[in-house]
Amino acid sequence: MGQSLENMTIPKHVALILDGNGRWAKRRGLPRTMGHKQGCVTVEKTVEIAARMGIEYLTVYGFSTENWKRSTEEVGALMQLFRYYMVRLLKIATANNVRVKMIGDRRRFDRDIIEGINRLERDTKDNTGMTFVIAVNYGSRDEITRAVKRIALDCKDGNVDGENITEEMIASYLDTAGMPDPDLLIRTSGELRLSNYLLWQLAYTEIFVTDCLWPDFNQEELEKAILAYNKRERRFGGVK
Ligand code: IPE
Ligand code: IPE
Ligand code: MG
Repeated sequence: MGQSLENMTIPKHVALILDGNGRWAKRRGLPRTMGHKQGCVTVEKTVEIAARMGIEYLTVYGFSTENWKRSTEEVGALMQLFRYYMVRLLKIATANNVRVKMIGDRRRFDRDIIEGINRLERDTKDNTGMTFVIAVNYGSRDEITRAVKRIALDCKDGNVDGENITEEMIASYLDTAGMPDPDLLIRTSGELRLSNYLLWQLAYTEIFVTDCLWPDFNQEELEKAILAYNKRERRFGGVK
Protein backbone atom coordinates (compact mmCIF):
# COMPACT_ATOMS: atom_id res chain seq x y z
CA MET A 1 0.00 0.00 0.00
CA GLY A 2 1.22 3.53 -0.77
CA GLN A 3 2.39 5.78 2.07
CA SER A 4 -0.51 8.08 1.31
CA LEU A 5 -3.07 5.81 2.98
CA GLU A 6 -1.39 5.82 6.38
CA ASN A 7 -3.92 6.67 9.13
CA MET A 8 -6.74 6.70 6.60
CA THR A 9 -10.09 5.00 7.17
CA ILE A 10 -10.49 2.26 4.62
CA PRO A 11 -14.13 2.12 3.50
CA LYS A 12 -15.69 -1.19 4.39
CA HIS A 13 -17.71 -1.45 1.19
CA VAL A 14 -16.62 0.07 -2.10
CA ALA A 15 -19.00 -0.01 -5.08
CA LEU A 16 -17.59 0.54 -8.56
CA ILE A 17 -19.16 1.50 -11.86
CA LEU A 18 -16.46 0.47 -14.28
CA ASP A 19 -17.12 2.63 -17.29
CA GLY A 20 -15.12 3.73 -20.31
CA ASN A 21 -13.93 0.49 -21.90
CA GLY A 22 -15.37 1.53 -25.26
CA ARG A 23 -13.79 4.99 -25.16
CA TRP A 24 -10.43 3.53 -24.14
CA ALA A 25 -10.49 1.29 -27.22
CA LYS A 26 -11.73 4.04 -29.53
CA ARG A 27 -8.86 6.32 -28.53
CA ARG A 28 -6.48 3.62 -29.65
CA GLY A 29 -8.34 2.87 -32.88
CA LEU A 30 -9.27 -0.56 -31.53
CA PRO A 31 -12.64 -2.35 -31.54
CA ARG A 32 -14.75 -1.83 -28.38
CA THR A 33 -14.29 -5.47 -27.42
CA MET A 34 -10.57 -4.87 -26.92
CA GLY A 35 -11.52 -2.29 -24.32
CA HIS A 36 -13.62 -4.90 -22.53
CA LYS A 37 -10.77 -7.37 -22.62
CA GLN A 38 -8.38 -4.86 -21.06
CA GLY A 39 -11.13 -3.95 -18.61
CA CYS A 40 -11.22 -7.56 -17.39
CA VAL A 41 -7.48 -7.44 -16.67
CA THR A 42 -8.09 -4.28 -14.62
CA VAL A 43 -10.88 -6.04 -12.68
CA GLU A 44 -8.49 -8.85 -11.75
CA LYS A 45 -5.83 -6.40 -10.58
CA THR A 46 -8.36 -4.33 -8.65
CA VAL A 47 -9.61 -7.39 -6.75
CA GLU A 48 -6.07 -8.10 -5.56
CA ILE A 49 -5.35 -4.47 -4.66
CA ALA A 50 -8.64 -4.02 -2.79
CA ALA A 51 -8.20 -7.27 -0.86
CA ARG A 52 -4.68 -6.20 0.15
CA MET A 53 -5.93 -2.79 1.33
CA GLY A 54 -8.40 -4.44 3.67
CA ILE A 55 -11.60 -3.45 1.87
CA GLU A 56 -14.23 -5.94 3.06
CA TYR A 57 -16.71 -5.72 0.18
CA LEU A 58 -16.00 -4.71 -3.40
CA THR A 59 -19.05 -4.59 -5.67
CA VAL A 60 -18.51 -3.99 -9.38
CA TYR A 61 -21.04 -3.33 -12.11
CA GLY A 62 -20.13 -5.71 -14.89
CA PHE A 63 -23.23 -5.87 -17.09
CA SER A 64 -26.51 -4.02 -16.68
CA THR A 65 -30.05 -5.06 -17.57
CA GLU A 66 -29.85 -2.27 -20.19
CA ASN A 67 -26.58 -3.48 -21.73
CA TRP A 68 -28.49 -6.11 -23.75
CA LYS A 69 -29.39 -3.16 -26.02
CA ARG A 70 -25.86 -3.21 -27.44
CA SER A 71 -24.99 -4.96 -30.72
CA THR A 72 -25.17 -8.77 -30.83
CA GLU A 73 -21.48 -8.71 -31.57
CA GLU A 74 -20.60 -6.71 -28.45
CA VAL A 75 -22.95 -8.68 -26.18
CA GLY A 76 -21.54 -11.94 -27.58
CA ALA A 77 -17.97 -10.78 -26.94
CA LEU A 78 -18.87 -9.82 -23.37
CA MET A 79 -20.38 -13.29 -22.77
CA GLN A 80 -17.19 -14.92 -24.09
CA LEU A 81 -15.14 -12.77 -21.73
CA PHE A 82 -17.33 -13.86 -18.82
CA ARG A 83 -16.74 -17.48 -19.69
CA TYR A 84 -12.99 -16.99 -19.76
CA TYR A 85 -12.64 -14.74 -16.74
CA MET A 86 -14.91 -16.81 -14.50
CA VAL A 87 -12.31 -19.56 -14.61
CA ARG A 88 -9.44 -17.14 -13.95
CA LEU A 89 -11.39 -15.48 -11.18
CA LEU A 90 -11.75 -18.76 -9.33
CA LYS A 91 -7.94 -18.99 -9.21
CA ILE A 92 -7.48 -15.39 -8.14
CA ALA A 93 -10.21 -15.66 -5.49
CA THR A 94 -8.68 -18.82 -4.09
CA ALA A 95 -5.18 -17.33 -4.00
CA ASN A 96 -6.43 -14.19 -2.22
CA ASN A 97 -8.94 -15.84 0.16
CA VAL A 98 -11.73 -13.91 -1.62
CA ARG A 99 -15.39 -14.93 -1.54
CA VAL A 100 -17.24 -14.26 -4.80
CA LYS A 101 -20.94 -13.46 -5.10
CA MET A 102 -23.05 -12.44 -8.06
CA ILE A 103 -26.02 -10.10 -7.90
CA GLY A 104 -28.52 -9.56 -10.70
CA ASP A 105 -30.83 -11.95 -12.50
CA ARG A 106 -28.58 -14.74 -13.76
CA ARG A 107 -31.49 -16.68 -15.33
CA ARG A 108 -31.12 -14.79 -18.60
CA PHE A 109 -27.62 -16.15 -19.26
CA ASP A 110 -26.71 -19.33 -21.16
CA ARG A 111 -26.72 -22.47 -19.07
CA ASP A 112 -22.93 -22.87 -18.93
CA ILE A 113 -22.52 -19.30 -17.66
CA ILE A 114 -25.14 -19.90 -14.95
CA GLU A 115 -23.31 -23.06 -13.93
CA GLY A 116 -20.00 -21.16 -13.90
CA ILE A 117 -21.48 -18.49 -11.64
CA ASN A 118 -22.93 -21.09 -9.27
CA ARG A 119 -19.61 -22.90 -9.13
CA LEU A 120 -17.66 -19.72 -8.44
CA GLU A 121 -19.95 -18.92 -5.51
CA ARG A 122 -19.93 -22.46 -4.17
CA ASP A 123 -16.16 -22.97 -4.41
CA THR A 124 -15.30 -19.67 -2.71
CA LYS A 125 -18.05 -19.50 -0.08
CA ASP A 126 -15.79 -20.51 2.82
CA ASN A 127 -13.08 -17.95 2.04
CA THR A 128 -12.79 -15.45 4.87
CA GLY A 129 -11.16 -12.43 3.20
CA MET A 130 -12.80 -9.80 1.01
CA THR A 131 -16.20 -10.42 -0.57
CA PHE A 132 -16.08 -9.61 -4.27
CA VAL A 133 -19.55 -8.97 -5.65
CA ILE A 134 -20.15 -8.84 -9.38
CA ALA A 135 -23.35 -7.28 -10.67
CA VAL A 136 -24.31 -9.05 -13.89
CA ASN A 137 -27.62 -8.64 -15.71
CA TYR A 138 -28.13 -6.29 -12.81
CA GLY A 139 -30.49 -3.34 -12.73
CA SER A 140 -31.60 -1.78 -9.49
CA ARG A 141 -35.20 -1.37 -10.62
CA ASP A 142 -35.27 -5.00 -11.71
CA GLU A 143 -33.83 -6.06 -8.33
CA ILE A 144 -36.45 -4.02 -6.44
CA THR A 145 -39.23 -5.36 -8.68
CA ARG A 146 -38.15 -8.97 -8.03
CA ALA A 147 -38.00 -8.23 -4.29
CA VAL A 148 -41.50 -6.67 -4.27
CA LYS A 149 -42.90 -9.73 -6.09
CA ARG A 150 -41.44 -12.06 -3.47
CA ILE A 151 -42.73 -9.92 -0.61
CA ALA A 152 -46.19 -9.91 -2.23
CA LEU A 153 -46.12 -13.70 -2.52
CA ASP A 154 -45.04 -14.06 1.11
CA CYS A 155 -47.90 -11.76 2.13
CA LYS A 156 -50.34 -13.85 0.11
CA ASP A 157 -49.03 -17.05 1.73
CA GLY A 158 -49.47 -15.50 5.16
CA ASN A 159 -45.73 -15.49 5.99
CA VAL A 160 -45.48 -11.69 6.03
CA ASP A 161 -47.93 -9.17 7.42
CA GLY A 162 -48.04 -6.18 5.09
CA GLU A 163 -48.54 -3.81 8.02
CA ASN A 164 -45.22 -4.89 9.51
CA ILE A 165 -42.97 -4.41 6.47
CA THR A 166 -39.82 -2.54 7.51
CA GLU A 167 -36.83 -1.09 5.66
CA GLU A 168 -34.70 -3.91 7.05
CA MET A 169 -37.14 -6.46 5.68
CA ILE A 170 -37.10 -4.90 2.23
CA ALA A 171 -33.27 -4.89 2.29
CA SER A 172 -33.33 -8.58 3.16
CA TYR A 173 -35.24 -9.35 -0.05
CA LEU A 174 -32.71 -7.54 -2.24
CA ASP A 175 -29.84 -9.37 -3.97
CA THR A 176 -27.47 -7.65 -1.53
CA ALA A 177 -29.18 -9.16 1.55
CA GLY A 178 -26.76 -9.45 4.45
CA MET A 179 -24.25 -6.97 2.99
CA PRO A 180 -23.60 -3.52 4.46
CA ASP A 181 -24.50 -0.55 2.24
CA PRO A 182 -21.59 0.85 0.21
CA ASP A 183 -19.56 3.60 1.92
CA LEU A 184 -17.93 4.81 -1.28
CA LEU A 185 -19.06 4.69 -4.92
CA ILE A 186 -16.44 5.17 -7.60
CA ARG A 187 -17.41 5.75 -11.22
CA THR A 188 -14.71 5.88 -13.88
CA SER A 189 -14.71 7.91 -17.11
CA GLY A 190 -16.51 10.96 -15.87
CA GLU A 191 -20.23 10.28 -16.26
CA LEU A 192 -22.30 11.84 -13.46
CA ARG A 193 -25.09 9.29 -13.19
CA LEU A 194 -26.00 6.06 -11.43
CA SER A 195 -27.17 4.09 -14.49
CA ASN A 196 -29.61 1.98 -12.44
CA TYR A 197 -26.96 0.81 -9.97
CA LEU A 198 -27.80 -0.03 -6.32
CA LEU A 199 -30.42 2.72 -6.01
CA TRP A 200 -31.64 1.55 -2.60
CA GLN A 201 -28.21 0.72 -1.21
CA LEU A 202 -26.48 3.98 -2.28
CA ALA A 203 -28.86 6.22 -0.26
CA TYR A 204 -26.01 7.66 1.88
CA THR A 205 -22.93 6.59 -0.05
CA GLU A 206 -20.15 9.08 -0.80
CA ILE A 207 -19.65 9.47 -4.56
CA PHE A 208 -16.28 9.82 -6.31
CA VAL A 209 -16.13 10.26 -10.08
CA THR A 210 -12.83 10.14 -11.94
CA ASP A 211 -12.13 10.90 -15.60
CA CYS A 212 -9.79 7.91 -15.70
CA LEU A 213 -11.12 5.29 -18.16
CA TRP A 214 -11.68 1.90 -16.56
CA PRO A 215 -8.85 0.00 -18.32
CA ASP A 216 -6.42 2.65 -16.99
CA PHE A 217 -7.68 2.39 -13.39
CA ASN A 218 -5.00 1.37 -10.88
CA GLN A 219 -3.93 1.46 -7.24
CA GLU A 220 -3.12 5.17 -7.41
CA GLU A 221 -6.65 5.98 -8.62
CA LEU A 222 -8.19 3.85 -5.87
CA GLU A 223 -6.02 5.61 -3.30
CA LYS A 224 -7.15 9.01 -4.62
CA ALA A 225 -10.77 7.95 -4.12
CA ILE A 226 -10.08 6.76 -0.58
CA LEU A 227 -8.24 9.99 0.27
CA ALA A 228 -11.23 12.00 -1.00
CA TYR A 229 -13.55 9.77 1.04
CA ASN A 230 -11.54 10.53 4.17
CA LYS A 231 -12.12 14.26 3.66
CA ARG A 232 -15.89 13.89 3.50
CA GLU A 233 -18.12 14.56 6.46
CA ARG A 234 -20.83 11.93 6.54
CA ARG A 235 -23.92 13.31 8.27
CA PHE A 236 -26.65 10.80 7.38
CA GLY A 237 -29.19 13.59 7.66
CA GLY A 238 -28.07 14.69 11.11
CA VAL A 239 -26.06 17.70 12.28
CA LYS A 240 -22.38 17.63 13.25
C1 IPE B 1 -18.15 -0.33 -19.38
O1 IPE B 1 -17.59 0.28 -20.50
C2 IPE B 1 -18.39 -1.80 -19.57
C3 IPE B 1 -19.79 -2.20 -19.74
C4 IPE B 1 -20.81 -1.40 -19.63
C5 IPE B 1 -20.05 -3.60 -20.08
P1 IPE B 1 -18.46 0.80 -21.70
O2 IPE B 1 -18.60 -0.30 -22.71
O3 IPE B 1 -19.75 1.36 -21.23
O4 IPE B 1 -17.54 1.93 -22.29
P2 IPE B 1 -17.98 3.34 -22.89
O5 IPE B 1 -18.85 3.99 -21.86
O6 IPE B 1 -18.72 3.07 -24.15
O7 IPE B 1 -16.70 4.07 -23.09
C1 IPE C 1 -23.08 1.23 -16.57
O1 IPE C 1 -22.36 1.68 -17.66
C2 IPE C 1 -23.16 -0.27 -16.61
C3 IPE C 1 -21.92 -0.97 -16.32
C4 IPE C 1 -20.80 -0.39 -15.98
C5 IPE C 1 -21.97 -2.41 -16.41
P1 IPE C 1 -23.07 2.09 -19.02
O2 IPE C 1 -22.01 2.54 -19.96
O3 IPE C 1 -23.97 1.00 -19.48
O4 IPE C 1 -23.98 3.32 -18.56
P2 IPE C 1 -24.56 4.52 -19.39
O5 IPE C 1 -25.18 3.96 -20.64
O6 IPE C 1 -23.41 5.43 -19.71
O7 IPE C 1 -25.54 5.18 -18.48
MG1 MG D 1 -20.38 3.21 -20.72
